[in-house]
Amino acid sequence: MNDLGLSLTPSAPACCADVPARAAAHPLAPLTAAEIRAVAAAVRAAPQFGAGMLFETIELLEPPKSALRAWRPGMALPRAARANLFRPDEAGVWRVSVAIETGAILSQEFVPGARPMIQLEQFLAIEGIVRSHPDFIAACARRGITDMELVCVDPWSAGNFDVPGEEGLHLSHTFCWLRTRANDNLYAHPIGGLNAVVDIKAGRVLRIDDHGALPIPMAEINYESQFRSDFRAPLKPLDVVQPEGPSFTLEGSVLAWDKWSLVVGFNAREAITLHDIRYDGRPIAHRMSLVEMVVPYGSPEPGHARKNVFDIGEYGLGKLANSLKLGCDCLGHIAYLDAHLNTMSGEVFTIENAICIHEEDAGVLWKHWDFRTDRAEIRRGRRLVVSCICTVGNYEYACYWYFRQDGAIEFEMKATGVINTAACLPGKPSRYGTEVAPGVEGHVHQHAFCARIDVAIDGDANSVIECDTVADPPGPDNPWGNAFHVEERVLRTEREGARRAEPAAQRYWKVVNPGVLNGVGRPVGFKLEPARVITPFVAPDSPSGKRSRFMANHLWVSAYDPEERYPAGEFMNHSDGRGGIDDFIAQDRPIENTDIVLWHVFGLHHLPRTEDFPVQPCISTGFMLMPNGFFDQNPAIDLPPETNRASRHASAGCCAHGTS
Ligand code: CO
Repeated sequence: MNDLGLSLTPSAPACCADVPARAAAHPLAPLTAAEIRAVAAAVRAAPQFGAGMLFETIELLEPPKSALRAWRPGMALPRAARANLFRPDEAGVWRVSVAIETGAILSQEFVPGARPMIQLEQFLAIEGIVRSHPDFIAACARRGITDMELVCVDPWSAGNFDVPGEEGLHLSHTFCWLRTRANDNLYAHPIGGLNAVVDIKAGRVLRIDDHGALPIPMAEINYESQFRSDFRAPLKPLDVVQPEGPSFTLEGSVLAWDKWSLVVGFNAREAITLHDIRYDGRPIAHRMSLVEMVVPYGSPEPGHARKNVFDIGEYGLGKLANSLKLGCDCLGHIAYLDAHLNTMSGEVFTIENAICIHEEDAGVLWKHWDFRTDRAEIRRGRRLVVSCICTVGNYEYACYWYFRQDGAIEFEMKATGVINTAACLPGKPSRYGTEVAPGVEGHVHQHAFCARIDVAIDGDANSVIECDTVADPPGPDNPWGNAFHVEERVLRTEREGARRAEPAAQRYWKVVNPGVLNGVGRPVGFKLEPARVITPFVAPDSPSGKRSRFMANHLWVSAYDPEERYPAGEFMNHSDGRGGIDDFIAQDRPIENTDIVLWHVFGLHHLPRTEDFPVQPCISTGFMLMPNGFFDQNPAIDLPPETNRASRHASAGCCAHGTS
């Protein structure tokens, strides 16, 4: 591992040495550890800030598109960073940019009243603060709990509920569980009706809310292997064998595979960011990432009504990334990238093996058997996968970006981990949840995700066309009533660009470059199908609804502005809902044949199942960007025929019919 963020896992088989490890200083490469230190030092040396500043984030300030377009490998572009700073005794966040080479503060802006994301250090400190508070200890005693070491406190974001006494503070609203012994699954033992409100900056409990005790379910329901002796018979090994190593190259942050090339970035908030995505040299997107996520829960019960957590905007997904384990998280021939992030005090912390890069078999890509001649052509497809797994409290979010040989880009979000649990009377769950074990309820909730897709279909000048399938009315032109066709409508302004899915019309959106025509004279394009969308159930004008307005549509289109990055706002912890996508599109800028950004909202409508407990099998959502008139024909037509020589007939007796 080195300061440039590239590491190959020490335990990796020798094959991975085939991946070139030469670090290239691409201008979009994430900040190195040394660069993060330099930014912190520059801030502290600036007299207006000094040594007392705390750091929310230090990340790359991405160079403007014009500078990137002019850049060629080997050229040096000045590196700069964004940093968000705060003081313990000041209500607001400083937004600064810093020149890394000189340490000069390039810009500074104070955002009064802004609350930073909850920092990892704060996240970890809150449990101790709550557990030692006399009112909390007394409330636990009323529930028969005397050993406070067994009480686990999860610090949730607090939202903005106009509760008297909470105004202007930076708060956490906590939930608690009991761990009956070491490594026991605490979420099997929810402590009902007990919440704490913590002033994060002051490090003190503002209030203990005791809404009334419920019996604590004490049955152990564990998922760790140490608690289990009755494993099913294991299957035989299934190994990924790549005798010549993987087919991708990774130079610093620059990834190339098959006809794809891209730059892999990472930051504390968004986790993986992908840049300058090209197929066969043709640009498709300037930048893609997951930029927001909110999990609204559906129970109105006291305490639980506040559960509406923005895991990206209020915590930061990137800094919660796992250090991935070869052969467990990642199968095959893996290249890893480390993530270098800042601590609250401006030090560096490194998540080793935060990003996993590998290729995998993706089944049949295309096939045809000519039954007249008995000739078959078949090509198997592979895909390149760039992934990370982030743990936000009880939940895991596993993010997978797939690049396919037919030119499609897929994003898959797999949610796993342990559902948030609440106590209920055994056999009597509320109407807002499922009893997943006696006395343990999982509340209904949703996970809404927003991807920011800075498209660049063969260049920046792009338009979005809404495509609805319409049945022709029966009549002289449609005598048999079978006719249907696609109606296209160009979205011209930002207000027109706020769209919802329409399954009855098989609606999709096509991003085109009107200035580049394909072989049949149509603008080249990619389509986005809203295949995994959800409908919000939180009232739009409610305290949580106002803050999650981005859920109101499945597509938003905005004119490109590098400072419009987050659909619920940049400083959205405790926000009132301003500063996000509603405000961006209120400008109603033209979005036709210009540099535009797509914001796609998709999600999981999660009504917990008993099978989601004690640990949830992955459930999945995502989206696909698929070429639609971008190529003149199947771009994978040129895949050479291939027979996989490691494949073989299963030995006789392995399966019901054997083989012949
Ligand atoms: Co869920």
